[in-house]
Amino acid sequence: MSQKPLGSSGIRDGDKEAQKRAQDLLRKGSLVGIPTETVYGLAADACNGQAVARIFEVKGRPQFNPLICHVDGLELAQKLGVFDERAMALAKKFWPGSLSIVVPKTADCPVSDLVSAGLDTIAIRCPNSAFTRDLIASMGMPLAAPSANPSGKLSPTVASAVRDAFSTDQVPLVVDMGPCKMGLESTIVYCVEGQPVTILRHGAVLMEDLEAVLGENTVRKHQPDINDENAPRAPGMLASHYAPDSKLVLWDEDQPQAQETDTVLTFAAQPVTGMERALNTLDLSLTGDMAEAAANLFSMLRQLDELQPKRIIVVPPPAHGLGVAIVDRLRRAAAPRNT
Ligand code: TXA
Ligand code: MG
Repeated sequence: MSQKPLGSSGIRDGDKEAQKRAQDLLRKGSLVGIPTETVYGLAADACNGQAVARIFEVKGRPQFNPLICHVDGLELAQKLGVFDERAMALAKKFWPGSLSIVVPKTADCPVSDLVSAGLDTIAIRCPNSAFTRDLIASMGMPLAAPSANPSGKLSPTVASAVRDAFSTDQVPLVVDMGPCKMGLESTIVYCVEGQPVTILRHGAVLMEDLEAVLGENTVRKHQPDINDENAPRAPGMLASHYAPDSKLVLWDEDQPQAQETDTVLTFAAQPVTGMERALNTLDLSLTGDMAEAAANLFSMLRQLDELQPKRIIVVPPPAHGLGVAIVDRLRRAAAPRNT
């Protein structure tokens, strides 16, 4: 790439145009391929649930794994997550850079529930790409971005790999800033008050780098202990762990009648017998729009759960497209639990 002069913000003047296009598209809810020093990301406005749903749709992920939220620095990060002393020390040392920090969400976190797949924690990273940081700063909003590969494929370290993997309908813009310097995904560290700092995914920042900041023997490698409810989970496991407190019943094979003590979650206005007497009824998408349904899934389940019903009766959407991931999540939440 030719060396153009640096603008006052640190990005090349010639890249301002790409930034403007990226901004317009992201504000409209479109996806943009963004450069980071680790791998290229597939970005959406993290506060727009339907845009986030599109990430899962175009990646063809059959499950809702939580995504990393990208910020331009600590100030925005602290609007999203609660940083204890350790998280703060790590962010100050490694940001911008290849460390994603999982922290509790703030009470008024503006990010869509779909980003963290209904969890009450959020993974946050400040990438070391002047372009991407400047884009986030100019928009004043975090970007949710997984690696920009179709599900099951290798993570892309050059822009052309992203361009080739998706149509321009799916991803109208891929910003090319040359090959990624690291070529390896960020280290993910779990950092929640009262619990040991735990590495959930290994990456460029090493355990000894973390301990150099936090002190010797303060950081654990993730060791799954399925019997320990409070142990931090591997990324995938953490996601599958989320379920409402109330019993969740699917309205498919048996079609239970709703009672006064139940809440009901419908799809495309498909009625459930007895729903008029239920405690409350919500609809994932009255028009049957899967992206809208995905965007509403976790927040609606939460709303219905908060009423402490005996059961949440859910009409599952048809299992195609994003419906596959929605139904997967509903089935797991409906599976018997030993509590
Ligand atoms: O380097 C990277 O981290 C790249 C670039 C684009 O920033 N992103 C990336 O994202 O690798 P992705 O979606 O491919 O991986 C995100 C990982 C997933 O394994 C997910 O389960 C985990 O982060 N994760 C996200 N939020 C989490 C949370 N609240 N708790 C535990 N794990 C979480
Ligand atoms: Mg990935």
